[in-house]
Amino acid sequence: MTEKMYPPSDDFVAKAHIDAATYASMYQASVDDPDAFWSHEARQRLDWIEPFSVVKNTSFDLGKVSVKWFEDGVLNVAYNCIDRHLETRGDQTAIIFEPDDPETPAQHITYTELHEKVCRFANVLLAQGVMRGDRVVIYLPMIPEAAYAMLACARIGAIHSIVFAGFSPDALANRINDCGAKVVITADTAPRGGRRTGLKSNTDAALLHCSDKVRCLVVKHTGDQTTWIDDRDVDVKAMMAQVAPDCPIRPMGAEDPLFILYTSGSTGKPKGVVHSSGGYLLYAAMTQQLTFDYHDGDVFWCGADVGWVTGHSYIVYGPLANGATTLMFEGVPTYPDASRFWQVIEKHKVAQFYTAPTAIRALMGQGTKFVEGSDLSSLKVLGTVGEPINPEAWNWYNDNIGKGKLPIVDTWWQTETGGHMITPLPGAMATKPGSATKPFFGVQPVVLDPTSGKELTETQTEGVLAIKDSWPGQMRTVWGDHERFEKTYFSDYKGYYFAGDGCRRDADGYYWITGRVDDVINVSGHRMGTAEVESALVAHAKVAEAAVVGYPHEVKGQGIYAYVTLMNDQQPSEELRRELEAWVRTEIGPIAKPDLIQWAPGLPKTRSGKIMRRILRKIAENDYGALGDTSTLADPSVVDDLIENRMNKV
Ligand code: WT7
Repeated sequence: MTEKMYPPSDDFVAKAHIDAATYASMYQASVDDPDAFWSHEARQRLDWIEPFSVVKNTSFDLGKVSVKWFEDGVLNVAYNCIDRHLETRGDQTAIIFEPDDPETPAQHITYTELHEKVCRFANVLLAQGVMRGDRVVIYLPMIPEAAYAMLACARIGAIHSIVFAGFSPDALANRINDCGAKVVITADTAPRGGRRTGLKSNTDAALLHCSDKVRCLVVKHTGDQTTWIDDRDVDVKAMMAQVAPDCPIRPMGAEDPLFILYTSGSTGKPKGVVHSSGGYLLYAAMTQQLTFDYHDGDVFWCGADVGWVTGHSYIVYGPLANGATTLMFEGVPTYPDASRFWQVIEKHKVAQFYTAPTAIRALMGQGTKFVEGSDLSSLKVLGTVGEPINPEAWNWYNDNIGKGKLPIVDTWWQTETGGHMITPLPGAMATKPGSATKPFFGVQPVVLDPTSGKELTETQTEGVLAIKDSWPGQMRTVWGDHERFEKTYFSDYKGYYFAGDGCRRDADGYYWITGRVDDVINVSGHRMGTAEVESALVAHAKVAEAAVVGYPHEVKGQGIYAYVTLMNDQQPSEELRRELEAWVRTEIGPIAKPDLIQWAPGLPKTRSGKIMRRILRKIAENDYGALGDTSTLADPSVVDDLIENRMNKV
């Protein structure tokens, strides 16, 4: 970790929305009088059908946790993202679509065109009987139809739930069933990196486990052949051509759910994070503008997938609410080769580029020759998200992409927070590589002692990260399980929102996120619950027991390390290893595939039978000197065997 400071240039500060003095005074105002602060922002930034009279109504008290913002206000999210821009920027590009294959022409979709597409899509949904409050699962590649589908739901008041296209049929079925979706929207096949995933065939497989009432809307994207079930499957594009090009907006309460997004936790099955219409949109819009210092005319590129919250907030809702031009990229950073990102930036004159440290590390490994051929002079701000960024990756990004001149915003936030929580505002803060720096407006981070739960008030300190009070983008509940919401986030440390991360605060009051402190691992910037991978493994007939931990991985940040105990009659083999890998891929999806599987004749357990993950983590990290006390183990010799046979032992 380096404490070297990188201040923005004078030139940048002069043009920035927020400079250091403005940040200081606005931050103070936002915590001194949240009602006045957020009331002003909500009126300025959003168009309301019925104005709100109540601003903030929130409680973090266990047993009565409740998060409501602008609760009596009425608005429509799609109106705010499209209709209100038509008069002033109807001909401006809203979405640039860059296909997987660089030879396929890009599409520029204007706000006027977006309006028509979304209206037609909404009419297709209405024709399928989708009504206000109904759930619509979206399982699409990164194509404009994904944005149309999201905004069509918002237009008619349906709640969307996107399932990342890399998830397996089982994972898709679980989500369709958990939220009780009426409709699932998919595509024939999804091209990525020159290969194709059969999304329709995955959906067919998923729907075998769902109610036969679920309708399947299919976007014929590649034209690849698929199966077709006449009374269930609907050709979206054909229908869109038939329905009316206009569709009235549905006035929605600010607290009506906009979407559900499933995310992994340390226990149990993935939970449906519920986000609101008013507070969420305000927070996504405001952070998109200020964190990236977005100005009219800039082309904004968030390289995430719409299947993750980053794509919701910073490909679709934030930028479009601000009338921005947002880029949607279907492909991968390394196809046709490792220059693709930089080629796309040159081609579309991207001003702000937002990606994950894992992508930077992967490209860094390919060498700078892939950067040299591209003109990156359109860039103004670089961003990262998803995991702590290591200094090597930061320096590479800074030197080669930012040419040592651009602010890098390292944004800490979560699916649950809706938008950036701790992040530099590029004209207001000097950055330090590896630090997410300071809180966004209205966000009050605290560092707690992990055992006592007491607030550590010294400036320079280390502990777990919690948030003291609500912000408009906060999740409202877990779909169908408010108790789980309270238990997960508000029960460990009473009165606070507990994020699950550890952190350090330095002498300048800068925050450094040190990683998860629970049984969640961060694989390539995606959250994976170890319990989820474990239950997938033990569901295999040949597996008796499994324990999964994270270990340092050069590109992914953390890799998935699985200790597997086989049934008595089974022998370890390469074949079985591959069988288990494939099994996890089908149970959850490729992102959950263990990087390393170690055959474990036994797992280290306490005498009461609890698996000692601390020890498993240390072995996976190759850190045997620090195993700590193993005397409480039921059978300490188990540990020797695990060390002896550690995977890839060097
Ligand atoms: C977890 C949230 C929200 C965007 C994508 C991930 C980690 C996220 C940072 C960062 C250090 C980070 C945390 C957090 N994380 N951003 N800038 N520095 N860690 O969303 O799947 O909800 O995961 O990602 O551990 O809790 P997510």
